[in-house]
Amino acid sequence: MRVCVVGSGGREHALAAVLARTADSVVVSPGNPGIPGSVATPAEEIDADLYVIGPEAPLVAGLADRLRAKGKLVFGPGADGAQLEGSKAWMKGLLVEAGVPTARYGTFTSVEPALAFLRGLDGLYVIKTDGLAAGKGVLVTSDADEAAADVAEKLSGDAFGEAGRTIVIEEGLSGPELSVLAVCDGARAVALMPAQDHKRLGDGDTGPNTGGMGAYAPVPLAPSSLVDEVLDRAVLPTLHALSRAGIDYRGVLYAGLMLTPQGLKVLEYNVRFGDPEAQVVLPLLSSDLVTLLAEAAAGRVVQQPTFAEETAVTVVCAASGYPAAPRVGDPIVGIDAANDLEGVEVFCAGVAADAEGRLVTAGGRVLGVTAVGATLAEARVRAYQGVACVGFDGMTYRHDIALGGLTPTPDEERKP
Ligand code: AMP
Ligand code: GLY
Repeated sequence: MRVCVVGSGGREHALAAVLARTADSVVVSPGNPGIPGSVATPAEEIDADLYVIGPEAPLVAGLADRLRAKGKLVFGPGADGAQLEGSKAWMKGLLVEAGVPTARYGTFTSVEPALAFLRGLDGLYVIKTDGLAAGKGVLVTSDADEAAADVAEKLSGDAFGEAGRTIVIEEGLSGPELSVLAVCDGARAVALMPAQDHKRLGDGDTGPNTGGMGAYAPVPLAPSSLVDEVLDRAVLPTLHALSRAGIDYRGVLYAGLMLTPQGLKVLEYNVRFGDPEAQVVLPLLSSDLVTLLAEAAAGRVVQQPTFAEETAVTVVCAASGYPAAPRVGDPIVGIDAANDLEGVEVFCAGVAADAEGRLVTAGGRVLGVTAVGATLAEARVRAYQGVACVGFDGMTYRHDIALGGLTPTPDEERKP
């Protein structure tokens, strides 16, 4: 099968690398100079047997619909289903209709009712931009004054433009976070192994929210029943609610989950593979990704994905100034040396080529250094050995990726 991957980040590099295990050929549109098979040709002008759309923006803009209208086989929801990520207010409404456990919330377009709702919450406030904001439109704070100021700023339209003129305010929840990516064919869904992302910029979960600074999979703290619970209580009820709304959802439903003392809650849905989650989950697949995505795109998932009994860790190397204003144009060194290490593969994200063809930084998250190992500890050591090989001026990364996964689980603590 000839596969076209749409997008240009680390997720698309990981998708292309794993699809290339069994595809006849893989092109990535537009990709970047660090991803083999990258082509400048727009996806709609490429002739492929299967199109896999990576990022949310083209999905929200209807690229899957336009390709399907031409009779193409496409993995990724249409613009109707992509509203799950394109509008948090719409997504929350659908969650409530589907009976999926989620944080109590209100939707607001003016300041006074929003402040009144804030006053009714106790202690932890969450303010979200309704529209797409590249992972940066969410404030979580226990400071009531900061929350009120954020409401006023977002509703003014200055911070996020039109995407910010509607906000969702939620009660703050607490507990460990996990991501479960489900591959959906419109009616059925199969889940990939849970992964844990690290959303804050700094070590110890400090600093601003980002698109994700690193990930690991599988997640020791996830109970073995978790995947079935996510399918039964969240993904399938959501697919059925979508279906009742006339939406045939074929693509990834990414459930961002919190394991709260009151049980599992869905914080958000995304309509695509998570990034960096895809960089850890996909390399561990032992079954065929091309078949899985082609079956989902065709509306008949039969294959249950299987995974190697190993662990993967990704450490994101970001540019200085990320997420607010990443510095760009710095030469990148050491990718080949990192790739030569056992189990290590570097996925290129915010990467461009300069006039001499050398790779330079071109975005906030520049590289995802991924390592697979027999254990989480081994994968983690290998990933940081890979990070030590790569470099560019101002490179920043977290030092504590996957550290939480190394602490004993409650089951292990009880063992003699
Ligand atoms: P979202 O884009 O909705 O996933 O939010 C980004 C991040 O904000 C999540 O990964 C959580 O860390 C945090 N967050 C979102 N909603 C809540 C909530 N209701 N309570 C506590 N933290 C939240
Ligand atoms: N890693 C978070 C996301 O892909 O949205």
